[in-house]
Amino acid sequence: MSIALSNGNARTMTHGVPRLLLRRQRLEEPSSVVHGFMSSVLDRIHSPDIGLAIWRRLTRLNLLVSANTLLARPPFTLTVADTPDVAARRLCHDLLLFHWPLFADFRRLAARFATLTASPVVRMRLEHVIDDSCRQFHVDAVGLRLLCTYVGPGTEWADADGKIRRVMSMDVAVFKGSAFPGAGPRVLHRSPRLSTGALAAQPRLVLCTDALL
Ligand SMILES: [Fe+2]
Repeated sequence: MSIALSNGNARTMTHGVPRLLLRRQRLEEPSSVVHGFMSSVLDRIHSPDIGLAIWRRLTRLNLLVSANTLLARPPFTLTVADTPDVAARRLCHDLLLFHWPLFADFRRLAARFATLTASPVVRMRLEHVIDDSCRQFHVDAVGLRLLCTYVGPGTEWADADGKIRRVMSMDVAVFKGSAFPGAGPRVLHRSPRLSTGALAAQPRLVLCTDALL
């Protein structure tokens, strides 16, 4: 089985894409992924025919500067779980860094996700990633998951034609996971390879947010 890359080349899938999942993915209509420049596009993840919603955001320089500040540090993983406002504050507290743009964005995304999932408590994990992380295509064992890569290459996902796409940095992606009630599409995704290739040695700052019901 091969997958076509965005540049038109094809290669054999050797990264563990389950054949059954890939076949199901290929049968899905392209409309299982929705994009938009308003945060309201994320509400579409609740549609039965949607498996991934992407909120496209213009890069704000002050936010980018704050995020890059964190990449000057050694790799880290910080996890907090609380109400959106408190979780965002605790994240900045644990980072020993309070840059208003970063805090405001943490809080905004946490609040947006809490509303989306009707969960008063969210778990936020901020990671400075320098390795391949989750390279296998997979579906997360959660209901919904929000991912935002502030700096560096974003999460890769397989579209209905088997092409590998990548979420742009600063964009906000909400994936439907295996624990989401009901059937409907689930979009396979993975972390970009940083160990070799075109993205080698590009660090990432990634925020992952889940609901705690
Ligand atoms: Fe995942």
